[in-house]
Amino acid sequence: MAGKIPREFIDDLLARTDIVEIVDSRVRLKKAGKNYSACCPFHDEKTPSFTVSQDKQFYHCFGCGEHGNAISFLMEYDRLEFVEAIEELAKLHGLEVPREQGSRFSSDKNKQQSESDYQLMEKVTRFFQHQLKHHAQGQKAVDYLKQRGLSGEIVKQWEIGYAPPDWDAVLKTFGNEPAVRKQLLDLKLINQNDNGKQYDFFRDRIMFPIRDKRGRVIGFGGRIMEGNGPKYLNSPETRIFHKGYELFGYYHTRQQRNLQRIMVVEGYMDVVALSQFGIQYATAALGTATTQDHMAMLMRGTQEIVCCYDGDRAGRDAAWRAVENALPVLKDGIQLKFLFLPDGEDPDTMVRKIGQQAFEEMVASAAPLSTFFFEALLKQHSVGTPEGKIALKSAAQPMIDQVIGEQQKLMLSEQLSKHVGEYDRFKLDRDIRAANSGPGGAAPQRKQPKEPVSTLNKTRLSPISVMIRLLLEHPVLAADCADSVQPEFLAGSGIAGLNVLQDVFTFCATHPQANTAQVVENFRTHPYSKNLGRLLMQEHFIDEADAHKVFRDCFARLLDWHFDSRIDQLLSKSRIQALSSDEKQELNLLMRERQNS
Ligand code: UTP
Ligand code: MN
Repeated sequence: MAGKIPREFIDDLLARTDIVEIVDSRVRLKKAGKNYSACCPFHDEKTPSFTVSQDKQFYHCFGCGEHGNAISFLMEYDRLEFVEAIEELAKLHGLEVPREQGSRFSSDKNKQQSESDYQLMEKVTRFFQHQLKHHAQGQKAVDYLKQRGLSGEIVKQWEIGYAPPDWDAVLKTFGNEPAVRKQLLDLKLINQNDNGKQYDFFRDRIMFPIRDKRGRVIGFGGRIMEGNGPKYLNSPETRIFHKGYELFGYYHTRQQRNLQRIMVVEGYMDVVALSQFGIQYATAALGTATTQDHMAMLMRGTQEIVCCYDGDRAGRDAAWRAVENALPVLKDGIQLKFLFLPDGEDPDTMVRKIGQQAFEEMVASAAPLSTFFFEALLKQHSVGTPEGKIALKSAAQPMIDQVIGEQQKLMLSEQLSKHVGEYDRFKLDRDIRAANSGPGGAAPQRKQPKEPVSTLNKTRLSPISVMIRLLLEHPVLAADCADSVQPEFLAGSGIAGLNVLQDVFTFCATHPQANTAQVVENFRTHPYSKNLGRLLMQEHFIDEADAHKVFRDCFARLLDWHFDSRIDQLLSKSRIQALSSDEKQELNLLMRERQNS
């Protein structure tokens, strides 16, 4: 495994990058005062509410709330993973991405090893393809594929091959040198029995090469044609193949222009058959359930995900597992849907029966997550009784609470409240939260341009929120005001958000040159990165010229408040018992401080 990318490298990369250039090469920007603006690429709109700040190296949409730095933009717009976005930026600057952990030598060696692994997998892919045409038994495989209705063209496109029945076809062809034999063993292309005898892993099977999202062959699925044995044999986990992260056909979907949706199906054959019928957006898990990592990857890849299952019990169970894995990574703006095929059909048989158009009509009518979610739950809990309502709520609420998209969470909670007859209370709660929204309060409306932006603007921020907000905007404040602003003085005050302020302050104080983009980057994986994002969306109407003063004043107010409550605490204690000499000294100090201020 490659090591972590050093944080300094990421900071440096952001320092070299101009977000305006990055965005402008994808979305035409117009200069608007100090900033640049455009119609938001993340939601539909007619008038531009998407702004990019060169100073802060940050973008923000007042319509839908999307915001972030150059890395986030590449992740969202180009649909890249975090590491891929870093690699993309590094490439722009002609830099190599360094990795932490282990010696440089070993990481170079690892890189060489995986390069060589991918090359070998590619060669074996070609070998299986060649066997399909040229092996004595190949005709049997060709006949099988024909009988399954696959065209020659589609077989070629998916690089479907044939592993001959021999015990040593791969071994003999590739394993002349001990080093390569070891590699074949490591990649599980050959097996070794207890007596040390080596033999091919895949024999007499139709072979489907599995490519990772960058198009490298990392494993195979092999289908039996007749006889005994598992219907499909998949490559076991290896150093380059991790089933929980990979999807068959995903690379193919990503090659499509204007990819609108991705459909998750169960089998290799389904992906291939759909593609023969012009449906190029299907992908399949590799003999495992769809994992949370799969779901997260899909959500980065598209806005609409349709999970397609058999209508039988097993299909419904699989769909429920997909829901469980999707909820904790479900972002706003994602449409997750479920499609159940008639009993006994899979996408392969279905599309052959009804054709592309009718199939796509079915896909278009797939049930949204909320429908399937409550349908499934209502089958288990009858809401006809109070007990049933409580049971439904206690089953659903913890699942809904995991959702990361605030809008999605709100929508599911609203539906739950209707099912359990608490809708009036839900509305009241929601209004109260909206009225009090701040950090930790209800999230500002996201991806809902119709929501008037003024509700965000009017939000009153607490002094601590103002301080964090100002720091994010002008990181230099920490160093500039270090004489009078020292968050550690508030330690023990129990003020909500103090730990966030302290962390952000420390980072800014030690990185006085950092811009907003770099500060936010540093907190990308922190538990409160979401709160920072929310804060950044709040308008505060504080003039840049006043930032220092407001920052100091806020701190002074917090300090006063803290000192006052500490004085109260000590005084009330002194009425019950004698104070220790330390406490007396503290009280004196605080009183004097109080008189001076
Ligand atoms: P299915 O049994 O539904 O197969 O398994 P399928 O894709 O419809 O294949 P055909 O049409 O019979 O050829 C769905 C998926 O489950 C995994 C495979 O990934 C398969 O594509 N599977 C199934 C296995 O890994 N091993 C098995 O023995 C069976
Ligand atoms: Mn099938």
